[in-house]
Amino acid sequence: MEKTKEEIQELREKLRHHNHRYYVLDDPEISDAEYDRLFQRLTELEKQAPDLVTPDSPTQRVGAGPQAAFSEARHRLPMLSLGNGFQDQDIRDFDARLKRFLGDDSPVEYTVEPKIDGLALELVYENAGLTVGSTRGDGYVGEDITRNIKTILTVPLTLTNPKGHGRPAPDLVEARGEVYMEKEAFEQLNRTRLERNLPPFANPRNAAAGSLRQLDPRITARRPLNMFCYGVGEIGGAPFDTHHELMVCLQQWGLRVNRPHIRVCGTLDEVIACCRYFEEIRSQFPYEIDGAVIKVNQLNLQARLGQKSRSPRWALAYKFRPTQETTRIIKIDIQVGRTGALTPVAHLEPVEIGGVMVKRATLHNQDEIEKKDVREGDIVLVQRAGDVIPEVVQVIRSKRTGAERKFAVPTHCPVCGSGVEKREGEVVLRCLNPNCPAQIKQSLKHFVSKGAMDIDGLGNKLIEQLIEKGLAKEPADLYELRFDDLKKLDKIADKSAGNLVEAIQNSKRTTLAKFIYALGIRHVGEHVAGILADYFGDLGRLEEATEEQLLDIDGVGPQIAESIVSYFSDGSNREHSERLLRQGIQFETVGHTGAGAVAGKTFVMTGSLSSIKRSEAKEQILRRGGKVSSSVSRSTDYLVVGESPGSKLKKAAEMDVPILKEEAFLRMLGGE
Ligand code: IVH
Repeated sequence: MEKTKEEIQELREKLRHHNHRYYVLDDPEISDAEYDRLFQRLTELEKQAPDLVTPDSPTQRVGAGPQAAFSEARHRLPMLSLGNGFQDQDIRDFDARLKRFLGDDSPVEYTVEPKIDGLALELVYENAGLTVGSTRGDGYVGEDITRNIKTILTVPLTLTNPKGHGRPAPDLVEARGEVYMEKEAFEQLNRTRLERNLPPFANPRNAAAGSLRQLDPRITARRPLNMFCYGVGEIGGAPFDTHHELMVCLQQWGLRVNRPHIRVCGTLDEVIACCRYFEEIRSQFPYEIDGAVIKVNQLNLQARLGQKSRSPRWALAYKFRPTQETTRIIKIDIQVGRTGALTPVAHLEPVEIGGVMVKRATLHNQDEIEKKDVREGDIVLVQRAGDVIPEVVQVIRSKRTGAERKFAVPTHCPVCGSGVEKREGEVVLRCLNPNCPAQIKQSLKHFVSKGAMDIDGLGNKLIEQLIEKGLAKEPADLYELRFDDLKKLDKIADKSAGNLVEAIQNSKRTTLAKFIYALGIRHVGEHVAGILADYFGDLGRLEEATEEQLLDIDGVGPQIAESIVSYFSDGSNREHSERLLRQGIQFETVGHTGAGAVAGKTFVMTGSLSSIKRSEAKEQILRRGGKVSSSVSRSTDYLVVGESPGSKLKKAAEMDVPILKEEAFLRMLGGE
């Protein structure tokens, strides 16, 4: 028995350790299979010795069946909300306000961190064990959802004491944070819900809320929830100096903290630049963020500042511009893509979303139209995130008047009239005619676009005429165009025709990455094309690659691998790329950033780079014929941005200087 007890304890320790490595540090030491074996062994031993099962055992995360209702949980200290700011001036006012309150005009150090769009939660640890987990409720009393919270694998059931000279966890720790669902997990959850005829969740926040409030924790356990801690309620032990120090400590105790994104800023300009930066890279976070939270870093200052009725004076939520707006669908029509896919597009009453005027949104396919029951004339919620095409999220049914018109994707191509077909396993309808002018137009448009062969001066109107006059049916035809051919087009001056011939010829000098992208292989965007070019180095090797080989590449998933193999197994596609190469297309012997990307260019750096020293980066630039300057000006070509960028980022943004993140910068160096 003693031996079993020992083994159980050892297994629990190991599992806790590996949980922490996997979920909190994102740096696992063992394989999933190895983890499962340890977990299995513990489950077996606990089955044999049920007396030894304790509530904090890793096997006890998912409890028994449902409960009737949640009981109340009173917070020892109220859970406040945050004051909001929407523009730079609001941040400056916040800083001025708190300095007035302190009666001291000296600079204040702030932290800036992403504002996670989830639900606030409190975790109470007594003598290092999780005793209560509760929602915010009205700020004073929330709901006791301890059993559900225990199913979230990133929430430790016991706090660990740091090794070395970190401080031990005090008797009482009330950690506060945000529970959320990652964007991809949310999409996946909605897909399965739709398959089972269940209504989808409107957004990840609702999905997280719905999952946490399940009376049956077994349901919560199946939902991919996650948590970041961002503060504390009551906490024992000696006081901390700064918010940042407190966050480091929470992480050492095993709580999950959004560490790399908590930036300490010495000036207000840095605070503003950091908020802007988070907004700029907002769509790259795997979870939704709706703002940045600015906090006074010194905790003694926080204490002096105290709170107003519902929010602290020492923090401000800088809210990003929304990515969703409502507007009306004027009409729906069909766009035929370069692969023949018929995509229904909603034409909208123009609406500004996140600083961009949106007039069109994709409805994806007929299934989506039916699932969402979208009709012409409907008032809809439209979403725009990053560079992706705006989409209709849902219909606001309460605004229906009865005059809305249903829409059905046609059974014939609206451009060439050919029949359409659904391929096996696909939801989109495709035009079957390879000579469909719409398909030709889209593939030519793609081929000449900036990220592809970058042929300047070949716009929509000219492409349409080239197709109409039978001068171009596929991209390779472009290289056979002569000045006299172009002169046949309407309204084209000699000079433009000459320039265009030159631009077409010049485009033959390109990079492998751009060429791969230009081929228009489904699911191979610019980024993936860059990865493939780096990996294979020449087209022949890519053409011969198997799915297994492709799947070995970081950043290539099954959908992409399948699409590449199927593209090159089609003889006409191979013929097409060979014909292009015969036209004299040449690849510069560089990565996808282009030859001489550094030579003659002036670089400025801000923030710390993680994989290269600044002095080394400088040397590399100089060696490639580039220049390095210490401040951003009109002659700066690139600002290289590392961790915790300074005010140069703001200046660069104001002057429209292109920003290179570390990875892109390294690629540029590597490409030389
Ligand atoms: S600090 C006194 N930090 O935003 C309140 N809140 O609108 C201290 N939130 O209720 C909150 N991310 O649920 C803080 N990094 C973050 C946050 C964050 C999300 C939520 C939190 C709060 C709400 C206020």
